[in-house]
Amino acid sequence: MAIERTLSIIKPDAVAKNVIGKIITRFEDAGLKVVAARLTQLSRAEAEGFYAVHKERPFFNDLVTFMISGPVFVQVLEGEGAILKNRDLMGATDPKKAAPGTIRADFAESIDANAVHGSDAPETAAVEIAYFFPALNVYSR
Ligand code: PPS
Repeated sequence: MAIERTLSIIKPDAVAKNVIGKIITRFEDAGLKVVAARLTQLSRAEAEGFYAVHKERPFFNDLVTFMISGPVFVQVLEGEGAILKNRDLMGATDPKKAAPGTIRADFAESIDANAVHGSDAPETAAVEIAYFFPALNVYSR
C-alpha cells in the first residue's frame, strides 16, 4: 500500500475537552506519524475557504461558526493508506452512528461537534494539506 499524507483537524469541541493527546495516540498506535502540526484559531474567512465545497449545504453557517468557536489542532498524518486509515479511526460523521472504539464514538457529542475532520480522498488531501501547510503540498511519496 502507498505511503500517503492526509489532513486531520482536531475540532474545537475536542480541543476544549483536552483530548488532543488521546486522539494523537490513536493515530500513532495505528502507525500514522504526525509530520506537521499547529494549534490555531481559524478566522471566519479561513473556515469558509476550507469548507467552500459545502457552501450550498444547509449546515454551512453552523459548521463555520462551530469551527471558529475555539482553537483547532491541524495536522498532517503520514503512513500506509493514511487517508482511509484516518477515516476508519475517526468513525462515522454522526457520533451516534460511529462504531464503538472510534474517535467520534468516544469523544464526540453530536453531528455538529464531532471532534475530528479527515480528508476523504487523495485529491482532497492534497488540496487540504496545501491549504494549511503550503510547504507540504504532496499527499504521497
Ligand atoms: S459529505 O457529503 O460526506 O461531505 O458530508 P458529511 O461528511 O456528512 O459532512 C461534511 C462536513 O459537514 C459537517 N456536518 C455538519 N455540520 C453541522 N451541522 C450538521 N448538521 C452537519 N452535518 C455534517 C460534518 O461534520 C463534516 O465536517 P468535516 O469537518 O468535513 O468532518
